[in-house]
Amino acid sequence: MQSVKSFRDWKFIMLKNANIGNGRHAIKGRDVQFDFSDTNPHWLKDDPFSSHFVNSFHLVLPPGERYFCRVFAQALPLITDNELREDVKGFIHQEAIHSRQHTSAQIYLESNGYNYEHFNSKLDWVLEQVFGDSPFGMNYLKNRYTKDIWLTCRVGFIATMEHFTGFLGQWGLDNESWDKNGDATIVDLFKWHLAEEVEHRTVAFDLFEHLCTTKLGFYVSRQAQMVVVAPLFIHFIFDAFRVLVKQDEDRSMQKLGAKHILHLLAELEKVGKRTQNVPTFSFFVRETLRWVNPFFHPLHEGDTQQALDYLAQSPAAIAAADSCMK
Ligand SMILES: [Fe+2]
Ligand SMILES: [Fe+2]
Repeated sequence: MQSVKSFRDWKFIMLKNANIGNGRHAIKGRDVQFDFSDTNPHWLKDDPFSSHFVNSFHLVLPPGERYFCRVFAQALPLITDNELREDVKGFIHQEAIHSRQHTSAQIYLESNGYNYEHFNSKLDWVLEQVFGDSPFGMNYLKNRYTKDIWLTCRVGFIATMEHFTGFLGQWGLDNESWDKNGDATIVDLFKWHLAEEVEHRTVAFDLFEHLCTTKLGFYVSRQAQMVVVAPLFIHFIFDAFRVLVKQDEDRSMQKLGAKHILHLLAELEKVGKRTQNVPTFSFFVRETLRWVNPFFHPLHEGDTQQALDYLAQSPAAIAAADSCMK
């Protein structure tokens, strides 16, 4: 039996147990392309609510993932571990492609009559002004003493966001209803993206831990980050959802655009239980609370082999691999 002397040893054994070879899995972007010309924004059969709930991620993800890439590129010179540096580069590559593909999905929504410009500029403003290079947008706090601390805080903000993309990623891999009810192109777009989220789920967390100077500081700050990130995440997803449903031709969808967030969360719970097309709100709460555990590590939160199995049969990932061979 192998002895476990450190967290790194334990992680190595866990990765081996996850059947991904010698414990070192290189994270690489897959240069996928999608053609949405035959896709209807109501891409889940008879379920406009779930279609728009998932479509709202097309609006939220591109600005968010571009922000992840910028912050992680700034953090690269601070990384002293070669393997982690390679993982971070792979993470940046994957997130850049995710952002690009959801931007092309935004264009297909636009071509179907949905306008989202105001939402995009609002989210860009929050990310660039509040969480940009100056702490909370206050230029007088930006100096050489605060530079690395604020950068570490922003990495923590991303690590916390990646908890959401990680558990949603595993939910997407386990989901079967999309294959039965959904448009094949959109299903592949989300499943390819969610599989890569599961594949790189440990990177942001490991980077945040690497940059934090004490274990206690790491634990306390990641809890504090969640207090900020969870409400922001819910707010922006439902803000995007409202933008989309208000422009839907269906009157019952338009009415949802004026509903309070509590009503929409109750609806998410109901629709998720009935259709399995969206995760329920209680699932979000349960998964978010796992973050509180002092022994939490994203390694336990997903199945890497399942993600790689999906990526091995994803039509877009196969086409991307084929075009690399040519
Ligand atoms: Fe992503
Ligand atoms: Fe990610």
